Amino acid sequence: MTPPISSPGDASRPIIIDTDPGQDDAIAVLAALAAPELEVLGITAVAGNVPLELTARNARIICELAGRPDVAVFAGCERPLRQPLVTAEHVHGKTGIDGADLPEPTMSLQPQHAVEWMTETLLAAGEREITLCPLGPLTNVATVLENTPEAARGIREIVCMGGGFFGGGNTTPTAEFNIFVDPDAAQIVLHSGVPVTMLPLDVTHKALMTDDWIDQVRALGTRTGIAASGMLDFYERFDVEKYGTTGGPLHDPHVIAYLLRPDIHRGRHCNVEVETRSPLTRGMTVVDWWHLTDRPPNCHYITEVDSSRFYTLILTLLTPLP
Ligand code: BDR
Ligand code: CA
Repeated sequence: MTPPISSPGDASRPIIIDTDPGQDDAIAVLAALAAPELEVLGITAVAGNVPLELTARNARIICELAGRPDVAVFAGCERPLRQPLVTAEHVHGKTGIDGADLPEPTMSLQPQHAVEWMTETLLAAGEREITLCPLGPLTNVATVLENTPEAARGIREIVCMGGGFFGGGNTTPTAEFNIFVDPDAAQIVLHSGVPVTMLPLDVTHKALMTDDWIDQVRALGTRTGIAASGMLDFYERFDVEKYGTTGGPLHDPHVIAYLLRPDIHRGRHCNVEVETRSPLTRGMTVVDWWHLTDRPPNCHYITEVDSSRFYTLILTLLTPLP
């Protein structure tokens, strides 16, 4: 029996979701919007899985799916800091959220640039008040931190999906997609002095979806359950074929699960550096797991997960959505 997600009287935790939806981003956003323990201050879109115009569209489609057209969605950076944009339509489909038949959004995009809004919001926040949840390339977040280092004061921590070390990459032999797309941004974030927790492939590949779980999402019978299961069927097919497993990983929702139930995951505080130059290993997250160097620890690098609790939590969160 899963305990209730929050108790009456709990203060909710203010978060900003920075995202490039993406079917797995979509599930993470739905889960976050459903969690009474989290207050989504806004959603910032970034170019990644698909170009910015589509990620900003998809973020709004997902808010409307969740019955939350009131959430402010901002468009951010349309390309990585110092590299041309690489996208992943071969994984996510032409729209980024293929697999669900969802209407174009009617809620409007906020007029302000995501970087400007995030900067203003962090500067106005109390000390270490806001948690940033990046689910895509770190371009928006790095731009805030590079242009306005004092904005870091308002950040409680950065909990992001990205990286991979022990099991290699998913985009090149050594690099995970989010870090590969903007390695310079990832390096800036890791050196910002803000506490960073990274949920890499090393953990997401230890929790594979099952057909039975996707069927349970579908069996919710709600418009969200039907759309989410359609997206997941589509999304999973690529990884199942690629890795020869019976199910695929569900990367981005690990960030939300970690915020809500940190004891589902386990990792180690150590140094992580990103290779930004080498054409061979660009975007590699070099994890000093054994403290072999004197480089200071800058990251809580997660490697273990209780898969069954993770999937139960995500299903529980999706259940009350319309
Ligand atoms: C990450 O890359 C994207 O394809 C997913 O949305 C996830 O954020 C996994 O490598
Ligand atoms: Ca993503």
